[in-house]
Amino acid sequence: MPRILIIDDEKSIRYTLREILEYEKYEVDEAQDGEEGLKKLTDNHYDVALCDIKMPRMDGVELLSKAKEAGIDTPFIMISAHGTIETAVEATKKGAYDFISKPPDLNRLLLTLRNALDRSSLVTETKVLRKKVGKGSAIIGESEAIHKVKDTIEKVAPTDARVLITGPNGAGKELVARQIHEKSNRAGSLLVEVNCAAIPSELIESELFGHEKGAFTSAIKQRIGKFEQADGGTLFLDEIGDMSLSAQAKVLRALQENKITRVGGDKEIKVNVRVIAATNKDLKKEIAENRFREDLYHRLSVILIQVPPLDARKDDIALLTEKFLQDIAEDYGSATKKISPAALKYLQNLSWSGNIRELRNVIERLVIMSGNEITEADAAAYAAK
Ligand SMILES: Nc1ncnc2c1ncn2[C@@H]1O[C@H](COP(=O)(O)OP(=O)(O)OP(=O)(O)O)[C@@H](O)[C@H]1O
Ligand SMILES: [Mg+2]
Repeated sequence: MPRILIIDDEKSIRYTLREILEYEKYEVDEAQDGEEGLKKLTDNHYDVALCDIKMPRMDGVELLSKAKEAGIDTPFIMISAHGTIETAVEATKKGAYDFISKPPDLNRLLLTLRNALDRSSLVTETKVLRKKVGKGSAIIGESEAIHKVKDTIEKVAPTDARVLITGPNGAGKELVARQIHEKSNRAGSLLVEVNCAAIPSELIESELFGHEKGAFTSAIKQRIGKFEQADGGTLFLDEIGDMSLSAQAKVLRALQENKITRVGGDKEIKVNVRVIAATNKDLKKEIAENRFREDLYHRLSVILIQVPPLDARKDDIALLTEKFLQDIAEDYGSATKKISPAALKYLQNLSWSGNIRELRNVIERLVIMSGNEITEADAAAYAAK
């Protein structure tokens, strides 16, 4: 059951909102001013905060800023009385999710709430993802090829330049995209990922740009697309080479104008998004064969980062193996296994078409299958392809 915190100094408003929300099966808590609100937000988890603007002690806007400072990412919906609409708009610029006016219109309230909840689960998902990659997110390697990649990341991350990342399967494209986001000024905002290859072409537009209720048969409610979700942050368009030509045209327009239109809608919505794209396809070839738009290619590839295949940097295999042995031991909660120099040499002489991902899988297999130390015989038996 989603948990909502109502922060309002007027008892009657709290009472009315509580009645509506409990009837809709939300779990409701109340705070009677900004200070109490901040305390509750710090101590408990809420999926959404409904927050009045004018309150004694600490007003809604101050509360919003303090909560953001404290790293609380509960979405705020501001409740604005007559005369505070401008402040409410201001608040959305400071990070409030949206606002509704007082007295609240029931339908508008519930719709805004549902949208904020979608957003809230997204934030949680992203946080989980961030945690998952957190410890493993450093780019390991000292070879010249990977240094070049790391240097480029350092230089481009703090800019808003679009980046196109190319490279074979499992070479680390996604890792590069995450690093760019994490080292950018947008690191405090979301990194939203879209795997363009995984979404059927007839759904990709709605996925990217959202849709209005009734835009097509299955559009039973309004939906906010990835461009809007990534507002203020970074949008990672993975496997961009697999996007349909019609979706490419729409993405091009969004990049040219920094504006999007939801499917079935007519309002243009301004978005401030940094786009990073990745592909394992040869886009020049795709362009030559009319499967990828050349104008889009130029929009995306302001900076081009080519992630080298593992076979082009075999010197890094030792460091990567070391790192994976540690990560795996940590995951399993066991001691880090050793690998003999001969076994390592054996791995360095193999060809790694699946790149780093394949290497990690092989190391994991070796950890499971061998004794105290991974020997050359183990490597020969279990790394063979
Ligand atoms: N230099 C590196 N140091 C440490 N780990 C790495 C490195 N490069 C890649 N990895 C790890 O290898 C795995 C594959 O990397 P990633 O998913 O970024 O590849 P990809 O290029 O996006 O692959 P695909 O084309 O299949 O989507 C991930 O678990 C990633 O963390
Ligand atoms: Mg990838």
